Amino acid sequence: MGKTLVTGATGFTGWNLCKRLVLDGEKVAAFVRPGPMVKKLKLLGVECRVTDITDPVSVGENFDDIDRVYHIAAAYRTEHSDRDEFNLVNVGATRNLLEAAAKAQVKRFVHCSTVGVQGEIEDPPADENYRFRPGDHYQESKLAGELIAREYFGSALPVSVVRPVGIYGPGDTRFLKLFRPINRGLFVMIGSGEVLYHMTFIDDLVDGIILCGTRPEAVGEVFTIGGGGDTTLRELCIIIADVLKKPYPKLSVPYRPVYLAAEICEKVCRLAGINPPLYPRRVEFFALDRAFSIKKAGELLGYQPKVGLREGVARTAEWYKSKGLI
Ligand SMILES: NC(=O)c1ccc[n+]([C@@H]2O[C@H](COP(=O)([O-])OP(=O)(O)OC[C@H]3O[C@@H](n4cnc5c(N)ncnc54)[C@H](OP(=O)(O)O)[C@@H]3O)[C@@H](O)[C@H]2O)c1
Repeated sequence: MGKTLVTGATGFTGWNLCKRLVLDGEKVAAFVRPGPMVKKLKLLGVECRVTDITDPVSVGENFDDIDRVYHIAAAYRTEHSDRDEFNLVNVGATRNLLEAAAKAQVKRFVHCSTVGVQGEIEDPPADENYRFRPGDHYQESKLAGELIAREYFGSALPVSVVRPVGIYGPGDTRFLKLFRPINRGLFVMIGSGEVLYHMTFIDDLVDGIILCGTRPEAVGEVFTIGGGGDTTLRELCIIIADVLKKPYPKLSVPYRPVYLAAEICEKVCRLAGINPPLYPRRVEFFALDRAFSIKKAGELLGYQPKVGLREGVARTAEWYKSKGLI
């Protein structure tokens, strides 16, 4: 039996996927860059191969014994958005890995994309066929990567594409931006809070990714993998406050003036050569609807999210507390 390769194994999703695969008895290899997570992966039993995924030669040299690939790695959106880095990793490395996988005749290649390729959802919930409208360089590069993966649909390389929705859970710190101010009583809602949001607990996402990597029905298909349903941002904040046993923060400010301030802030900071603390994409979090249908994954793969929002929030809050983060 060959090995299962995971890229992005040092990241939140990749690490949790590796844990599950090892638990399931698979031989797991990971393409990694040196860093503190590598030791943890080795302790888990993952064979770590220091490989530059942006270099086709380096990738090709490490593919001999690989049966299955979960390509999770991505350059992710930060305030230091760097278009070249997004293209190098999210497009170029995806091409390198697909080419090497095709040459090595691997049995399955799962490419991790994002629902971000669809941008704002004007008519929620969106299914897999909803139009593309990436909203920034990160999403554009993820779309380009997904389209390269889809070129292999119908080829000798069995490829499937996963589009995760708003991943959260113990081990991830991105939702601290909501948990921390709510815990401190400092949260201010920008706008009405009626915007739709869709969260996916990490264990459910791992279930979905593995179904895409193992079920024959997944080949040549794109799947949105999300939690059980969407919620409004206000409802989400109420759940977080309730779990943290804090009063729900009632302060809100109108959206438009904050958005204009973010535009000015970004322009001034760019001229001054510093990273803007406030920028339009950050504010848009409070205004763009993101709600998705997971019907296709349910019907074709039997995907069924198991962790409800309240339970997921409670488990995440517990982890934040245990790490002294809130
Ligand atoms: N987080 C979300 O809500 C969300 C939503 C939709 C889709 N997604 C997609 O889901 C996947 C996993 O997301 P995540 O949030 O779990 O990611 P993450 O925690 O940010 O981890 C990203 C991983 O990619 C690796 N990576 C980045 N640049 C690299 C490079 N140049 N060479 C090699 N590896 C590189 C990182 O390695 P290092 O540790 O070496 O930096 C890390 O292992 C990504 O494909 C992302 O686009 C995420």
